[in-house]
Amino acid sequence: MFKFGFAKTITDINEEDKTDELEWIPAFKLEITPEQVGVKYGTDYYTETKVFPDFNLKLIRSDKVVKDLTKHNCQNIIEAETQHSDLIPAKYEGGLKIWECTFDLGQYILEEQIELKDKLVMDLGCGAGLIGLIALLKNSTVHFQDYNAEVLKSMTIPNVLLNCDNRTNIFTKCEFYAGDWASLATLLDDEENRKYDYIFTSETIYNPDNHKKLYEIFKRKLKINGLGFIAGKIYYFGVGGGMRQFEDLVLKDGYFDVKMVWRSQDGVNREILKLTRKQHQEHGLLGI
Ligand SMILES: C[S@@+](CC[C@H](N)C(=O)[O-])C[C@H]1O[C@@H](n2cnc3c(N)ncnc32)[C@H](O)[C@@H]1O
Repeated sequence: MFKFGFAKTITDINEEDKTDELEWIPAFKLEITPEQVGVKYGTDYYTETKVFPDFNLKLIRSDKVVKDLTKHNCQNIIEAETQHSDLIPAKYEGGLKIWECTFDLGQYILEEQIELKDKLVMDLGCGAGLIGLIALLKNSTVHFQDYNAEVLKSMTIPNVLLNCDNRTNIFTKCEFYAGDWASLATLLDDEENRKYDYIFTSETIYNPDNHKKLYEIFKRKLKINGLGFIAGKIYYFGVGGGMRQFEDLVLKDGYFDVKMVWRSQDGVNREILKLTRKQHQEHGLLGI
């Protein structure tokens, strides 16, 4: 049975760490400079894999990343490593590992031949950034978001650089955002207020306390005819979040139609949900 490697049991979390008592890092844009790209973000420690059929990616080795972050005294990661934990709420949210629903979503995007040329895409909760990389390599402009800036710096950005023949793409076709979803939409409004053709997210619904924050980004930042895709497990044992709960929240709010577009046949039950704005909004009646 699938279980997250949490630092604390769910009972501990309920009693001690109520999400609203946690201190979430506010969202911010991670700026990178041409000088940093060569020196700081270059890497030789990667493996080249056919992560998806017919789609080769070079990916930095996560053991190397964890080792480097530990060497540089990155406390959140050291704490997670010491506790053998996949995440510590509001401190480290799991981005150094590639989670299985990323493979489902990537495969789905490629199989369905989702049109990604000249689109604006958000990889929400990107971790290693595989979904954003697919979009980037298919000629989208991509905004990568992860709670932990250290994940973006040590994993996502190197992965982008490893896979772009033209390294300047990282300035012209990518942006990187760290911090909590609660303040992300407002930050993005303040930046350029651009709305997305696609928002993709994988394995981000495990904590029900974060559902509303996550949903608000789809609501505020998808274009009228934009599409949202959520890949995740039907239920996250030991944590409490799940697809039906997230889907209920979306449906109750009444702005989106929700369709389950993919479901696993075996193993841990996993799904992909597609969000489209309801018809009356496309005609501007609700003024979004
Ligand atoms: C379990 S990881 C999944 C990473 C990646 N999508 C994958 O499937 O491999 C969860 C992701 O959601 C992000 N995340 C979780 N809670 C968040 C929050 N409250 N605000 C911003 N990002 C959050 C984490 O930073 C991380 O990128």
